Amino acid sequence: QMRNALNKMADGVKDPVAKKKFETEMDNFFALFRRYLTDKAKGTTLDWERIQPPQASQVVAYDTLPTVEKSTLLGKLAVLKLNGGLGTSMGCVGPKSVIEVREGMSFLDLSVRQIEYLNRTYGVNVPFVLMNSFNTDDDTQNIIKKYEGHNVDILTFNQSRYPRVLKDSLLPVSKDIDSPISDWYPPGHGDVFESLQNSGILDELLERGVEYLFLSNVDNLGAVVDLNILEHMKETDAEYIMELTDKTKADVKGGTIIDYEGTVRLLEIAQVPKEHEQDFKSIKKFRYFNTNNIWLNLKAIKRVVENNELELEIIPNFKSLSVDKKGESDISIVQLETAVGAAIRHFKNAHGVNVPRRRFLPVKTCSDLMLVKSDLYSMKHGQLVMDSARFGPAPLIKLGSHFKKVSDFQKRVSSIPRIIELDHLTITGAVNLGRKVTLKGTVIIVANEGSTIDIPNGSILENVVVQGSLR
Ligand code: UTP
Repeated sequence: QMRNALNKMADGVKDPVAKKKFETEMDNFFALFRRYLTDKAKGTTLDWERIQPPQASQVVAYDTLPTVEKSTLLGKLAVLKLNGGLGTSMGCVGPKSVIEVREGMSFLDLSVRQIEYLNRTYGVNVPFVLMNSFNTDDDTQNIIKKYEGHNVDILTFNQSRYPRVLKDSLLPVSKDIDSPISDWYPPGHGDVFESLQNSGILDELLERGVEYLFLSNVDNLGAVVDLNILEHMKETDAEYIMELTDKTKADVKGGTIIDYEGTVRLLEIAQVPKEHEQDFKSIKKFRYFNTNNIWLNLKAIKRVVENNELELEIIPNFKSLSVDKKGESDISIVQLETAVGAAIRHFKNAHGVNVPRRRFLPVKTCSDLMLVKSDLYSMKHGQLVMDSARFGPAPLIKLGSHFKKVSDFQKRVSSIPRIIELDHLTITGAVNLGRKVTLKGTVIIVANEGSTIDIPNGSILENVVVQGSLR
């Protein structure tokens, strides 16, 4: 039935070029869908008893890599940012990458600065590649226009657009190629391999002599090109390197690297049976987590895609879609997604490198945004560097639901407080921070339900609990 519905949609496409593209996309989607049904029928594929922490040879410590000052491999490198996702969890309507981070510059601007600096410093021309989706392409193109004529080649391509699937009937929500945007979804960053190939960018890069690809999440400002890892990749003939970092209690949910019968694999919490969740979260047994900074050999990507070798674990994402404004007739859908980290087992000599935390500086919430905007970091050529006066790791910041959306955060925090001496901040309820506020030690601010707390301009709060209503 699914196959028929997809064929019907393809039959309706008149333009031959668009038809061909659409058919390829639907074929790839169908392969994913079929595998989902087979996997579901078979039950979970990983046997917990056979899951082992990685062997020493499967995770190399970053500080054991030789320090490299210059590398001819830079001439064979391209940098790719995963830019297909929306910043929905931060209440953005557009791509997360356009959020302003520092000095009027967005994630995208900062990434471009990083590449420009790299190109200038080493006299190279590392291409900057963006994987957009139908959700993010327009906004992204508008932003990058300004870089025409700059010392950086920006290439973009769109990842696949797959139909959302009705949970009950297992039929596509979309009726034809022009179905509304809400009938489709970008199928996760694991789609990067097929999309690189289908868009022609993979061949274009190979023709330019590119052999290595460094990819990362667009919101990870710590993911700068690292020559030591690049050289190490060549040295070890690795087709795939995953940067891992030490797991702390705050990131127990992150995907971890495991040894499964002699091969490295990624294990995501979604694959773990309920009874083993605590074991998975253990920071002793599984010490590292995936930063999603990944180094790939381009020719190897071509090989695994052309040979249809990739069978990335499918992550079913169940959602409820409202079909009318009142939300009275919501429909249950599932979208089948994959992750780039899951591909590790398909590449030769694939392994992890345990990198310092500074290479993982993601912005998933407005609490993270406050950190990267603060005096804790200074910006050097698009890179955020932690102030040397800071003692220990970054403070723990927990902003409540009143700060969930970027727009609310901007309204409530008119200027970013000074936090260089802060250890822990919790804000709950309707709190507004004035200008030039300094926070030190542990600060807890709780506005009771129905009341608002305004922290006056210039306040210095140190080891205090502010509660109730100050207005
Ligand atoms: P994730 O969706 O894994 O994490 O995207 P996230 O940034 O925390 O997403 P939210 O805020 O929970 O929704 C990680 C990176 O992969 C890209 C995103 O743009 C982000 O840079 N991505 C995600 C894609 O490029 N395509 C996708 O289909 C999904």
